[in-house]
Amino acid sequence: MSEVIEVVGGTALRGEVGVFGAKNAVLKEMVATLLAPGTHTLENVPGILDVTLMADVLRHVGCAVDLNGHTLTIDVPEDPNPEAPLDLVRKMRASIVVLGPLLARVGKARVAFPGGDDLGARPIDMHMKALEKMGADFSLEHGVLVGTVPDGRLQGADLGLRFPSVGATENAVLAAVLAEGTTTVGNPAREPEIIDLCRHLNEMGARIEGAGTNQIIVQGVDRLHPATHHVVPDRLEAGTFAVAGAISGGEVTVLDCNPENLRVELSKLEAIGCRIDREEDRFTVHGPDRPQAVDIATLPYPGFHTDMQSQFVALLSIADGTSMVTENLFDNRFSYVGELARMGADITVDWQHATVRGVWQLSGCPVMANDIRAGAALVLAGLAADGTTTVSEVHHIDRGYERFTERLAGLGAQILRHR
Ligand code: EPU
Repeated sequence: MSEVIEVVGGTALRGEVGVFGAKNAVLKEMVATLLAPGTHTLENVPGILDVTLMADVLRHVGCAVDLNGHTLTIDVPEDPNPEAPLDLVRKMRASIVVLGPLLARVGKARVAFPGGDDLGARPIDMHMKALEKMGADFSLEHGVLVGTVPDGRLQGADLGLRFPSVGATENAVLAAVLAEGTTTVGNPAREPEIIDLCRHLNEMGARIEGAGTNQIIVQGVDRLHPATHHVVPDRLEAGTFAVAGAISGGEVTVLDCNPENLRVELSKLEAIGCRIDREEDRFTVHGPDRPQAVDIATLPYPGFHTDMQSQFVALLSIADGTSMVTENLFDNRFSYVGELARMGADITVDWQHATVRGVWQLSGCPVMANDIRAGAALVLAGLAADGTTTVSEVHHIDRGYERFTERLAGLGAQILRHR
């Protein structure tokens, strides 16, 4: 039987907690190393399951990968095996970003075609279109996406994304750095993690400008070299601990982060009734006696992050008043709401809208995590619930949070993890 997290609600969290490097930056930075043979070092790497899964993808490609504390060393061979099989892609969809670097470096790639998941259908049409415009050809053979570069080298191209997809932006940039000539990516994702990936690539000798703006310009180079890169702090870990402080009515200081990268989410917490003291690399959340209802709509960065939606719904479920929460990124990101309802939350979902009618208190019970953020949200709900909440399928939480239980316990939560 897999492990569960058991949390007894009612304790106001107090104290300091630090955050590690961002999952959604480090996974792509691990893949970026494929662009140059030799020994690469990533620092501030979070100890999460997804890093282990991406290490397996890189090992399959022929790399030697070693995680020592929060430092990851990756030895990339001269002749990588350009393949990501189904068992690895199924475990972690983000494996699809190997496509761009493998086509750029080796001129071919065989990657299992990712299906949908608990968040929705999640097509990859934009990834493929961008790479095709740069000269790649694709065929689907028995569930495997087979990519080739008939001209031998990808060519720079003008790419305009119909939507600022994080993954499509990354695949385009990861391919463009070794392409011949200049690539422009119009309407790219502007996430801090994309900026950090581009910084890492520039440290490897790439020539990228405009990350974080509405156009990224990449001048292709002939070769890249290994580098040492320090991963940007995880704003989602920081935001999740912020909500933990808010929902428990406590006072939590989040260290080693960049509050600027969470400005929309922190200002929503203020609208909910929290007081927030910000400094350059830390912030403190003072939770309210009772949260106030607010409306939220998720949007690409710099909008409200979809990966903070479920944590905020947990918080708003005990707010004074009714909140409307609109999910604009994924077509199926409210499936955890049924578990919150088991705890007494009053939430109605109609397609991409959730109407959250605040109740006085949640009531602890057994609930099941079905993705990383939903799992974290259920633990947060447990912090405010009457009695004991037991969250199962916690391996989902391990994908994105390092030692989540221990760090919440460090803030005074009555929480433990067991079989
Ligand atoms: N989309 C398409 N076609 C494409 C690509 C995307 O229609 O070719 C759609 C998707 O189906 C989705 C929307 O565009 O509805 C947004 O997808 P995007 O490509 O931006 O997201 P992603 O790269 O698949 C990353 C994060 C997610 C995060 C989103 C949005 C990683 C590993 N994952 O996914 O993180 O929610 O960006 O910010 O970076 C998480 O960490 O819990 C998580 C799910």
